[in-house]
Amino acid sequence: MERIAVLTSGGDAPGMNAAVRAVVRAALNNKMDIYGIERGYAGLVKGEITRLSHRSVSGLIHKGGTFLRTARCPDFKDIEVQRQAVEALSAYDIEGLVVIGGDGTFRGAKDLSDNFGIKVMGIPGTIDNDMSYTDYTIGFDTAVNTVLWAINNLRDTMHSHDRVCLLEVMGRQCGDIALYAGVAGGVEYVLVPEIKYDLDQISANVKKSYLRGKTSNMIILAEGAGNRDEIAAYVQEKSGIPVKVINFGYIQRGGSPNMMDRVLAARFGYKAVELLKENSDSMAIGIRDNKLVTVPFAEIGQHTKKFDEELYNIAHVLSL
Ligand code: ADP
Ligand code: F6P
Repeated sequence: MERIAVLTSGGDAPGMNAAVRAVVRAALNNKMDIYGIERGYAGLVKGEITRLSHRSVSGLIHKGGTFLRTARCPDFKDIEVQRQAVEALSAYDIEGLVVIGGDGTFRGAKDLSDNFGIKVMGIPGTIDNDMSYTDYTIGFDTAVNTVLWAINNLRDTMHSHDRVCLLEVMGRQCGDIALYAGVAGGVEYVLVPEIKYDLDQISANVKKSYLRGKTSNMIILAEGAGNRDEIAAYVQEKSGIPVKVINFGYIQRGGSPNMMDRVLAARFGYKAVELLKENSDSMAIGIRDNKLVTVPFAEIGQHTKKFDEELYNIAHVLSL
């Protein structure tokens, strides 16, 4: 394979730049021509394709976001729109594609591969860590550490005012960001979509601990687990203690990627180019028990994302 391209798609995630850098440098190391596609599938359909060099990815490894930019392109579900994308690739004689994104991006990749025989390698890039076939996605660890920074700051002020706070974090229908940040931050209550919770019990515990002198508690809410304002109002009314609500939002999507995400990005990017060089069938690249894995896109749906209930129980026991 002589010419390949790379794109970032869906929600951006810290480490996407490091992954693009790894793909570009590995491709050049294999004497391949490498192109960058702007704004994900939306840019591909429009032919926003640029030749990349070694210098194009200099000074990027520590930067959050994606210099190729990204976009959501709902029309890409349409095979005629996909055909335009394939025409754009063949206009540059591009034979292989590396896509960096989440579940949706991988569905688009599967279609390009199944419908048009394009060789596509998928690199999991999303802060949500909601991809069932891999233990970690690029961006998750950095996002959790960003939430941890917020938890530390919130503890200071909430403790000073004897207040309870509810911090909402992202994750779509996956509770991993809330869970890992909850354990690392010693948060008292972790509310996730995967586990039922009892607000009466939580309110009673908040009140009891207050009367015992623990006048500040923290609740971390994964966005898919309920409405932050309704939950806060309920706990405040039942416990009689003021509950401050913080929606952490897009802050957790940015920031300089940390070691874990940069190393994942390097390993995934390098592997993607290796697979294209070997003319492998289209694959999703991931990591399980610290070993790289490759999974055909068609098999991804067969894996169920296992929620770490043991860690969830540890979070609650250790924060009592
Ligand atoms: P993520 O990749 O982070 O999950 P999205 O769900 O928005 O983010 O998916 C990114 C892009 O992938 C979408 O904007 C669309 O262009 C493409 N995509 C999503 N679902 C499909 C699908 N079922 N078929 C083809 N393309 C899809
Ligand atoms: O998938 C990443 C993510 O940040 C989710 O956690 C969040 O629900 C969603 O994207 C937000 O999407 P948008 O950037 O389109 O508002």
